[in-house]
Formats: sequence, structure tokens, C-alpha cells
Amino acid sequence: MSIKALKGFKDILPDEVGLWQFIEQTARDIFHRYGFEEIKVPILEKTELFVRTIGDSTDIVEKEMYTFLDRNGSSITMRPEGTASVIRSYIENGLYVRGSVQRLYTIGPMFRHERPQKGRLRQFHQMSVEVLGSNSAKIDTEVVAMAWQILQEIGLQASLEINSLGCAACRPSFKEALQGFLQERFQHLCEDCKRRSNINPLRVLDCKSENCQAQYVSAPSILKYLCGACSDHFEEVKQTLSLVDVPYAVNAKMVRGLDYYTRTTFELITSELGAQGAIGAGGRYDGLVRQLGGPDVPGIGFAMGMERLVMLLSQKDQVEIRPALDLFLVTLGEAATEKGFVLLQALRSQGLRAMMDQEGRSLKNQMKQADKQNAKFALILGEHELANREVALKDMRSGEQELIEFTAAIEDWADVIKTKIKQQLK
Ligand code: HAM
Repeated sequence: MSIKALKGFKDILPDEVGLWQFIEQTARDIFHRYGFEEIKVPILEKTELFVRTIGDSTDIVEKEMYTFLDRNGSSITMRPEGTASVIRSYIENGLYVRGSVQRLYTIGPMFRHERPQKGRLRQFHQMSVEVLGSNSAKIDTEVVAMAWQILQEIGLQASLEINSLGCAACRPSFKEALQGFLQERFQHLCEDCKRRSNINPLRVLDCKSENCQAQYVSAPSILKYLCGACSDHFEEVKQTLSLVDVPYAVNAKMVRGLDYYTRTTFELITSELGAQGAIGAGGRYDGLVRQLGGPDVPGIGFAMGMERLVMLLSQKDQVEIRPALDLFLVTLGEAATEKGFVLLQALRSQGLRAMMDQEGRSLKNQMKQADKQNAKFALILGEHELANREVALKDMRSGEQELIEFTAAIEDWADVIKTKIKQQLK
């Protein structure tokens, strides 16, 4: 029996990789335009880090983490998200001394032991950003607008939902009101909500049960409980989002699946992926850095699920993003093949994406290869061409062929060929 990949773990095959690279490059470009810098953090961390940040009564910590004892007997976890690790690194490496506001992004795999389904994997990839050190509502807007711009530039549509979860000063009164509301309907709630109504009542609003959701239609709204400062902050976020033309809808029931959030939270949602409609999400986490032993600095960020972006893009009927070869070198005869091999290296050094046959195929089959590899040009070098110090450059799309003559040594032909190709591609 051949060995298969683990359930919920997926290979990203060469045919799909073009889309991944396109998304990642677009996002990186936008991150840089917004002044973000990349940070790379480890995949394994001490379990405690995630328990203390994400929250011990969240789904992620309760049932989804890949946690095990390492050979020294310490409990370690494969990161289920990026925020906790970035903050750990920010504190551990004193990144706050580089400047009062740090804009960081990281891209990589995350691990959650969820039930795999369309758009939900056990190893998935996030592009995730964090801004540490600013309280300004305009930073919230910048971050949301940046997420919006990524979707626009990769050509996807989604709706943006925003909410405010208040702060340590105002959330307790909402919690109390919600608990009172849940108590009155206790017997109608699912077992999970019954349990959570005591330990983490906000989480019930996220329950997937239709029965529970029907109960929560008349639940108190957190927005009515915000203190003056949180309310002003939320107003400014809404105003500035409108100012930069980012359309949003307020969803007072959005609580997010991680406990660290304060004030602004948001989700980018699509209806095109079935149940897994969130393609990106984030929010503020103002007390988190201090809670982890760092300075008292606020933070905000978001993460986008790359698999979901790739799925959406591939559902769209747009051209396959597959890098084309600049040229395929076709050779005939031993001497030409040997010279061609040297020329191939020189062409690559000139920055061209070039290939040649190494299996001794016939001329006809080499031309077929050129076609199959989606080459823009075929460069034909036979005994005759070699003797005459020339090479035939065939435009694979138009079929037109041109002879290029040389005076220099063959290693220097690459430069001329590159110039010709660039001219023709204009
Ligand atoms: P999250 O909502 O847990 O937030 O995940 C963000 C995004 O990751 C989701 O919207 C979804 O696109 C993707 N995602 C999550 N789980 C899976 C899965 N099992 N399979 C495929 N995609 C998935 C966070 O992780 C926060 N750290 C975001 C954040 C950054 N908040 C502040 N800073």
C-alpha cells in the first residue's frame, strides 16, 4: 500500500502554485506599500503561549490544537495561528525599541485539528499582519483597508462585517446582561452554549446551531454597552472607512473565535465557499502584549486564509496563472547540442526562463516539448546553424522565424538573444 498524506493535509501541486505565488506576491507588494515588514516565527511554540492568548475555553484551545510532549517532556504545540507567536517574538526580542509602532507581517502554515471539509484543512496557510503600538482608530481603518485592497488587487469580492467588542471597562456589563438573557432561555440552548454561558458567554453568539441562533435574535447588543471611549473609537473607524470608500456592514453578533480581541473586530466573508465563508478576519487586542509580559502597547491585525483565496480564484474562470518559458532551445547533432548546453546556461544567467531537451529527442519531439512547456520562443541550433554562426528564433505564437547571425563567441550570444526577445515581446 502506498503512503498517503494525512487527512486534512494537502499538497499544493505545480499546476496550482502559480495562483499561490500570484496571491502571495500581490499581498507582499501591498504590505510593503503600507509600510509593513516581514517577520518569520517558528511553527512550534510552548503550548502555554496559545492557551494564554487564544483562551482556554475557545474551540481552538479546547479541541483543535496539535499538542504533544517533546523528547524532554515539555508540552509543545504546532501554531494554530500567527498572532501569539508574533507577539511573543516582539516581546522576547524587544522589537518595541525599533520604534513605537511596529507593522509586521508573516506568511506560513498553521495547524488546527478541525473536521476537514471544503475550505477547511488541518494544515492551512495564513498571511497575517499585526500593528503593535498604536491606539489610533485610523490604524484600524488602515489595516481593514489594506485587507480590502488585497482582495481588490487579486480580483475577489467579499463583504466586510465589522463590530466592536468593547474593552475591560465596558465588556463586563455586557457579559452580565448576556448571561441574564441566556439564563432565561437556558433549557433551549445546546449543551455547548449551556456550558459556555457560564465560562465564556460571548462565545455562544458564534454557535452554529440554528436553534440557538433563533434564540439569540433578541439577545442584547454589545454596541449598546460600549463605554464612551470605545464608542468614539468605533464611530471614528466607521467614518474613516467611509472616507476611504471601504464598504462595510455592522454585525453586532460577530464575536470571533479567539478570546484576545478588544474593540474593533472584522471579517471578510464570501458566499461562494459554502460554510467556510470567512476568507479573512481580525481585530484589536489591546491588553494582550502586557498580559504576555510585554509593555502596555495596543495591537491590531488580521489573517487571510490562503487556501480559501486560491479556491475562490480558481472557481473564477480566469486565465491560468502559469509561468511561460521564455524559450525552448532545440538542438540537432552532437556538436550543436553540446554548444547549446553552454548557451542554455548563459541564457539563464541573462535572466531568461529557458529549457532544452536532455533526453536525445528528435527535432519534431523537441518542438512538441516547446509547445507543451508553453514556450514563447523556440531557439533552433543545428549543425548547419552552428557552422554558419547563426541561430533561428521562432515566435511560437505567430510562427514567424528569424535568423540571427553572430560574430562573437557562443557564450555571448545569450545577450543578443535576450535583447531580440525583449524587443519582440514589446
Ligand atoms: P482566524 O479567524 O482564526 O483568525 O483565522 C483567520 C483566517 O484563517 C480565517 O478567516 C480563514 O480564512 C483562515 N482559516 C482559519 N482556519 C482555517 C482552516 N482550518 N482551514 C483553512 N483556512 C482557515 C486568526 O487566526 C487571527 N490570528 C487573526 C488575527 C491576526 N487577528 C489579529 N491579528
